[in-house]
Amino acid sequence: MIVRLDALLNEVPTPSLILDFEEIANSYQQFVTSFPGAMIFYAMKANAHPDIIQLVVNRGGGLEIASLAELEKSFSAGADGSRIICSNPIKNPVFLRRMHEAGVYAVVVDSTYEVEKVAQYMPGARVYMRLAVDNTGSVLPLDGKFGVDAELALELCDLSRELGLNPIGLSFHVGSQCLSPMNWVKAIAACGDVWRAATERGHNFHFLDIGGGYPAGSNHDASIPTTAEIGSLVMEAVENYIPPTPEMMLVLEPGRGLSGEAGWLVTTVEGKALRGSGEWLYLDAGVFNGLMEAFEGFPPVVKLLADGVEDRPLRRYTIAGPSCDSCDVVARNLEMPEAHIGERIVFFDVGAYTNEYAVAFNGFPIPRVMALNRDDIDEAQPVHEEAVLA
Ligand SMILES: Cc1ncc(COP(=O)(O)O)c(C=O)c1O
Repeated sequence: MIVRLDALLNEVPTPSLILDFEEIANSYQQFVTSFPGAMIFYAMKANAHPDIIQLVVNRGGGLEIASLAELEKSFSAGADGSRIICSNPIKNPVFLRRMHEAGVYAVVVDSTYEVEKVAQYMPGARVYMRLAVDNTGSVLPLDGKFGVDAELALELCDLSRELGLNPIGLSFHVGSQCLSPMNWVKAIAACGDVWRAATERGHNFHFLDIGGGYPAGSNHDASIPTTAEIGSLVMEAVENYIPPTPEMMLVLEPGRGLSGEAGWLVTTVEGKALRGSGEWLYLDAGVFNGLMEAFEGFPPVVKLLADGVEDRPLRRYTIAGPSCDSCDVVARNLEMPEAHIGERIVFFDVGAYTNEYAVAFNGFPIPRVMALNRDDIDEAQPVHEEAVLA
C-alpha cells in the first residue's frame, strides 16, 4: 500500500520513533567517502537498535562500546572483538575481564587508576589516552568530565608500558553536535605534538581516534557542517600534523552523525493551558520518555502535522512532557502555528539519544520504534523539508 508520508505520520500510535534505515546506510556511506581509509566504530550509545548495529557490522564497520550490555549487543550482531573498542574512561572489573576474553581491540585510559585497573583485568591490552580538547562550539559539550593534558597523557603512556600494557595512540571528543569543524583540526594538531613526544620516549603509536561529534541537521540547515566538510578538514589535518606512520589507524566514533537524521519522533498534543501570559502545550512525550536532549539544550526542530497550518496564527509555546515533574519541559518560547489538542507534532533529527535515554517515568510509555519502509510511501521527505525551525 502506498501512502503519503504525512498520512503515515498521522496514523502511527504516539509516541513513535520512526527510523529510516536507508538514511542510516546513506550516512554510513558518507563517512566512508568523506574519510578515505578511516575505520568507523559506531558509538552505539546513540542508538543501539539491533538493525543499526547489524547494518554497521555488515558493512565492515566496528563498534564503540561503553558497557557490558553494549558488548553483549555487539556479539548479537556478530561483531568480532577485533572490531570493538571501548572509549569509556571508567570501566568496571567485570566489563574489563569480559572485554579481555573477547579480544576487544583496545580501550581508553585517562587516569593512573584506570591504567592500573586495565593492567590488572586486561593484562597486555592495547590502550589509548584520551586528551582533553576544546569543546567550544558544540551544542552538548563533553569536556570537564574526561580527558588529560599532554603531560599526563605521556605519563600514562609510560605507566601503561611499565605495567605491561601496550600504549598505541590517542583519542579525543570535540563535544556532541559540534558546529565548529576547526575543533577537530586543533585537536589533531595537539595530538601531533603528543605523538612526537611519545615517539621520543620510545612509544610506537599507530592509532588516532578522533571521536564523535559529527552533527545532524545539515540536510535542512546550511549553517550546520556536513560530514564531507568535516572529512576534508580532518584528512588535511592528519596529513599536516600526525607523523607519517605505517599501518596507521584513523578511527571515527560517530553516534549522532550516523543515526540522528534518520529518526522522527511523532507525538500528540494531550493538553493545553494558559499560565499568566504564556501558552503551554503538553505532549505525550517529554524529557523522561524520549526528549532528554531538549532538556540538555539541544534545540528541537518540530513541525505541527495538521491541515491548513500555513493559515493559522503563530504562537509562542512552552512545550512540556506528560509527567508531573516541573523539569519536564522540552522547549520554551517556541514559535509555531496554533496547535489544538489531539493534533500531532513531529520532532526531527532525533534518531540518536532518544529511546536510549527514555524511561517510563510516571507510567508514560517510551516511544514505540518503527522502521520506515520507503517502498510504502510515495514521496521522500516532504515533511522534513517544511520543518519549522526553533
Ligand atoms: C567516547 C564517545 N565516543 C563517541 C560518542 C558519540 O558522540 P556523538 O553522538 O556526538 O557522535 C560519545 C558520546 O557521548 C562518546 O562519549
